[in-house]
Amino acid sequence: MRIDILTLFPEIALAPLSESILQRARAAGLVEISAHNLRDWSTDKHKRTDDTLCGGGQGMLMMPGPIFAAIEELRTPESKVVLMTPQGKVFKQAIAKELSAEKHLILLCGHYEGVDHRVVEQLVDLELSIGDYVLTNGAIAAAVVTDALVRLLPGALGDERSHQEESFADPNLLEAPAYTRPIDFRGLKVPDVLISGHHAKIEAWKNEQALERTRQNRPDLLGHPAS
Ligand code: ADE
Repeated sequence: MRIDILTLFPEIALAPLSESILQRARAAGLVEISAHNLRDWSTDKHKRTDDTLCGGGQGMLMMPGPIFAAIEELRTPESKVVLMTPQGKVFKQAIAKELSAEKHLILLCGHYEGVDHRVVEQLVDLELSIGDYVLTNGAIAAAVVTDALVRLLPGALGDERSHQEESFADPNLLEAPAYTRPIDFRGLKVPDVLISGHHAKIEAWKNEQALERTRQNRPDLLGHPAS
Protein backbone atom coordinates (compact mmCIF):
# COMPACT_ATOMS: atom_id res chain seq x y z
CA MET A 1 0.00 0.00 0.00
CA ARG A 2 1.10 3.55 -0.71
CA ILE A 3 -0.04 6.71 1.11
CA ASP A 4 0.82 10.21 -0.10
CA ILE A 5 -0.03 13.04 2.28
CA LEU A 6 -0.44 16.49 0.73
CA THR A 7 -0.09 19.23 3.31
CA LEU A 8 1.51 22.55 4.18
CA PHE A 9 3.09 20.79 7.20
CA PRO A 10 4.75 17.50 6.15
CA GLU A 11 6.67 17.25 9.45
CA ILE A 12 3.48 17.36 11.50
CA ALA A 13 2.01 14.51 9.46
CA LEU A 14 5.17 12.39 9.51
CA ALA A 15 6.25 12.75 13.17
CA PRO A 16 3.67 10.30 14.61
CA LEU A 17 4.24 7.91 11.70
CA SER A 18 7.99 7.64 12.30
CA GLU A 19 8.03 5.72 15.58
CA SER A 20 7.09 2.34 16.96
CA ILE A 21 4.62 0.13 15.04
CA LEU A 22 4.17 2.58 12.18
CA GLN A 23 7.90 2.93 11.66
CA ARG A 24 8.31 -0.87 11.72
CA ALA A 25 5.50 -1.33 9.20
CA ARG A 26 7.23 1.16 6.91
CA ALA A 27 10.65 -0.45 7.37
CA ALA A 28 9.13 -3.89 6.62
CA GLY A 29 7.70 -2.52 3.36
CA LEU A 30 4.03 -3.03 4.34
CA VAL A 31 3.33 0.59 3.50
CA GLU A 32 5.16 3.38 1.74
CA ILE A 33 4.30 6.77 3.25
CA SER A 34 5.38 10.16 1.87
CA ALA A 35 4.35 13.63 2.95
CA HIS A 36 4.63 16.40 0.36
CA ASN A 37 4.56 20.15 0.81
CA LEU A 38 1.83 21.71 -1.33
CA ARG A 39 3.98 24.82 -1.68
CA ASP A 40 6.19 22.80 -4.03
CA TRP A 41 3.36 23.01 -6.59
CA SER A 42 2.75 26.74 -6.16
CA THR A 43 3.61 28.78 -9.23
CA ASP A 44 3.47 32.02 -7.25
CA LYS A 45 6.85 33.68 -6.67
CA HIS A 46 6.11 33.79 -2.92
CA LYS A 47 5.00 30.13 -2.98
CA ARG A 48 1.54 31.13 -1.80
CA THR A 49 -1.13 28.48 -1.62
CA ASP A 50 -4.04 30.47 -0.14
CA ASP A 51 -6.23 33.41 -1.06
CA THR A 52 -9.18 35.38 0.29
CA LEU A 53 -12.78 34.13 0.08
CA CYS A 54 -14.93 34.99 -2.93
CA GLY A 55 -18.07 36.74 -1.73
CA GLY A 56 -16.33 37.95 1.42
CA GLY A 57 -15.87 36.39 4.82
CA GLN A 58 -13.15 35.88 7.41
CA GLY A 59 -9.99 33.92 6.72
CA MET A 60 -8.22 32.37 3.77
CA LEU A 61 -8.90 29.41 1.54
CA MET A 62 -6.46 27.03 -0.17
CA MET A 63 -6.30 27.80 -3.89
CA PRO A 64 -7.14 25.12 -6.45
CA GLY A 65 -3.97 25.50 -8.59
CA PRO A 66 -1.32 23.83 -6.38
CA ILE A 67 -3.76 21.10 -5.28
CA PHE A 68 -4.81 20.20 -8.84
CA ALA A 69 -1.14 20.17 -9.95
CA ALA A 70 -0.06 17.96 -7.02
CA ILE A 71 -2.87 15.44 -7.39
CA GLU A 72 -2.51 15.27 -11.17
CA GLU A 73 1.18 14.47 -10.68
CA LEU A 74 0.74 11.87 -7.90
CA ARG A 75 -2.41 10.01 -8.84
CA THR A 76 -2.67 6.78 -10.80
CA PRO A 77 -5.83 4.97 -11.97
CA GLU A 78 -5.75 3.10 -8.61
CA SER A 79 -5.62 6.17 -6.38
CA LYS A 80 -8.33 7.22 -3.98
CA VAL A 81 -8.25 10.89 -2.97
CA VAL A 82 -9.40 11.66 0.58
CA LEU A 83 -9.86 15.21 1.87
CA MET A 84 -9.37 15.70 5.61
CA THR A 85 -12.00 18.21 6.73
CA PRO A 86 -14.34 18.77 9.69
CA GLN A 87 -17.10 18.82 7.01
CA GLY A 88 -16.41 15.17 6.16
CA LYS A 89 -18.00 11.84 7.03
CA VAL A 90 -16.93 10.82 10.55
CA PHE A 91 -14.01 8.38 10.53
CA LYS A 92 -14.82 5.01 12.12
CA GLN A 93 -13.10 1.64 12.40
CA ALA A 94 -15.26 0.31 9.52
CA ILE A 95 -13.89 3.06 7.24
CA ALA A 96 -10.33 2.29 8.41
CA LYS A 97 -10.92 -1.33 7.38
CA GLU A 98 -12.22 -0.35 3.94
CA LEU A 99 -9.39 2.10 3.30
CA SER A 100 -6.73 -0.40 4.43
CA ALA A 101 -7.67 -2.51 1.37
CA GLU A 102 -6.83 0.33 -1.07
CA LYS A 103 -3.61 0.28 -3.11
CA HIS A 104 -2.97 4.03 -3.09
CA LEU A 105 -4.39 6.81 -0.96
CA ILE A 106 -3.77 10.51 -1.41
CA LEU A 107 -4.68 12.29 1.83
CA LEU A 108 -5.25 15.97 1.16
CA CYS A 109 -5.03 18.17 4.25
CA GLY A 110 -6.99 21.37 4.53
CA HIS A 111 -5.70 24.46 6.29
CA TYR A 112 -7.15 27.92 6.98
CA GLU A 113 -10.87 27.86 6.12
CA GLY A 114 -10.45 24.76 3.94
CA VAL A 115 -10.03 24.21 0.21
CA ASP A 116 -11.67 25.73 -2.88
CA HIS A 117 -14.81 23.68 -3.55
CA ARG A 118 -13.79 22.90 -7.14
CA VAL A 119 -11.16 20.59 -5.60
CA VAL A 120 -13.90 18.71 -3.74
CA GLU A 121 -16.09 18.47 -6.85
CA GLN A 122 -13.40 17.44 -9.32
CA LEU A 123 -10.73 15.52 -7.41
CA VAL A 124 -11.96 14.20 -4.07
CA ASP A 125 -13.44 10.70 -3.69
CA LEU A 126 -14.15 10.92 0.04
CA GLU A 127 -14.28 13.71 2.64
CA LEU A 128 -13.29 12.52 6.13
CA SER A 129 -13.49 14.13 9.57
CA ILE A 130 -11.79 12.52 12.57
CA GLY A 131 -14.40 13.95 14.94
CA ASP A 132 -16.70 16.82 15.75
CA TYR A 133 -14.07 19.41 16.60
CA VAL A 134 -11.85 21.70 14.54
CA LEU A 135 -8.08 21.20 14.35
CA THR A 136 -5.63 23.87 13.18
CA ASN A 137 -4.82 21.76 10.13
CA GLY A 138 -5.62 18.45 8.49
CA ALA A 139 -2.08 17.02 8.82
CA ILE A 140 -2.88 15.83 12.33
CA ALA A 141 -6.06 14.18 11.04
CA ALA A 142 -4.14 12.54 8.17
CA ALA A 143 -1.68 11.05 10.68
CA VAL A 144 -4.58 9.69 12.75
CA VAL A 145 -6.23 8.08 9.71
CA THR A 146 -2.92 6.65 8.45
CA ASP A 147 -2.09 5.16 11.85
CA ALA A 148 -5.54 3.58 12.20
CA LEU A 149 -5.41 1.87 8.85
CA VAL A 150 -1.73 0.85 8.68
CA ARG A 151 -2.07 -1.08 11.94
CA LEU A 152 -4.77 -3.16 10.19
CA LEU A 153 -2.38 -4.31 7.43
CA PRO A 154 -1.50 -7.99 7.80
CA GLY A 155 1.77 -8.26 9.72
CA ALA A 156 1.72 -4.71 11.14
CA LEU A 157 0.87 -5.87 14.66
CA GLY A 158 2.89 -8.70 16.15
CA ASP A 159 -0.10 -10.48 17.63
CA GLU A 160 -2.97 -10.86 15.15
CA ARG A 161 -5.36 -11.71 17.97
CA SER A 162 -5.23 -8.18 19.35
CA HIS A 163 -7.42 -7.09 16.39
CA GLN A 164 -10.20 -9.41 17.46
CA GLU A 165 -10.41 -8.45 21.09
CA GLU A 166 -10.11 -4.71 20.94
CA SER A 167 -12.92 -2.20 21.12
CA PHE A 168 -14.77 -1.81 17.84
CA ALA A 169 -14.02 -5.38 16.73
CA ASP A 170 -17.69 -5.45 17.76
CA PRO A 171 -18.48 -1.87 16.71
CA ASN A 172 -21.20 -1.57 19.36
CA LEU A 173 -19.23 -2.59 22.43
CA LEU A 174 -16.19 -1.18 24.24
CA GLU A 175 -13.53 -3.46 25.74
CA ALA A 176 -13.73 -4.85 29.24
CA PRO A 177 -11.32 -3.41 31.87
CA ALA A 178 -7.90 -5.13 31.88
CA TYR A 179 -5.37 -5.83 34.66
CA THR A 180 -1.78 -7.02 34.95
CA ARG A 181 0.53 -7.89 37.86
CA PRO A 182 0.91 -7.30 40.75
CA ILE A 183 -2.35 -9.01 41.79
CA ASP A 184 -2.39 -6.77 44.88
CA PHE A 185 -1.25 -3.20 44.25
CA ARG A 186 -1.45 -1.01 47.36
CA GLY A 187 -4.33 -3.15 48.55
CA LEU A 188 -6.16 -2.76 45.24
CA LYS A 189 -6.91 -6.30 44.05
CA VAL A 190 -7.34 -7.71 40.56
CA PRO A 191 -10.90 -9.14 40.36
CA ASP A 192 -10.86 -12.77 41.63
CA VAL A 193 -12.52 -14.16 38.50
CA LEU A 194 -9.51 -13.14 36.36
CA ILE A 195 -7.15 -15.31 38.41
CA SER A 196 -9.63 -18.18 38.78
CA GLY A 197 -8.45 -19.95 35.61
CA HIS A 198 -12.13 -20.56 34.76
CA HIS A 199 -12.32 -19.51 31.10
CA ALA A 200 -16.11 -19.56 30.71
CA LYS A 201 -16.54 -17.41 33.84
CA ILE A 202 -13.83 -15.03 32.65
CA GLU A 203 -15.57 -14.64 29.26
CA ALA A 204 -18.94 -14.01 30.95
CA TRP A 205 -17.34 -11.42 33.28
CA LYS A 206 -15.66 -9.66 30.34
CA ASN A 207 -18.93 -9.48 28.38
CA GLU A 208 -20.83 -8.10 31.35
CA GLN A 209 -18.09 -5.52 32.07
CA ALA A 210 -17.87 -4.52 28.40
CA LEU A 211 -21.60 -3.85 28.39
CA GLU A 212 -21.42 -1.85 31.62
CA ARG A 213 -18.52 0.24 30.36
CA THR A 214 -20.36 0.90 27.09
CA ARG A 215 -23.46 1.99 29.06
CA GLN A 216 -21.29 4.38 31.09
CA ASN A 217 -19.03 5.85 28.43
CA ARG A 218 -20.81 5.35 25.10
CA PRO A 219 -24.56 4.93 25.55
CA ASP A 220 -24.93 6.07 21.92
CA LEU A 221 -23.41 2.73 20.79
CA LEU A 222 -26.32 0.97 22.51
CA GLY A 223 -28.87 3.15 20.79
CA HIS A 224 -29.32 5.58 23.69
CA PRO A 225 -28.73 9.32 23.38
CA ALA A 226 -25.12 10.40 24.18
CA SER A 227 -24.88 12.70 27.19
N1 ADE B 1 -9.18 19.56 9.82
C1 ADE B 1 -9.56 20.36 10.84
N2 ADE B 1 -10.34 19.70 11.71
C2 ADE B 1 -10.47 18.43 11.22
C3 ADE B 1 -11.18 17.28 11.66
N3 ADE B 1 -11.91 17.27 12.77
N4 ADE B 1 -11.08 16.17 10.90
C4 ADE B 1 -10.37 16.18 9.75
N5 ADE B 1 -9.69 17.23 9.29
C5 ADE B 1 -9.74 18.36 10.01
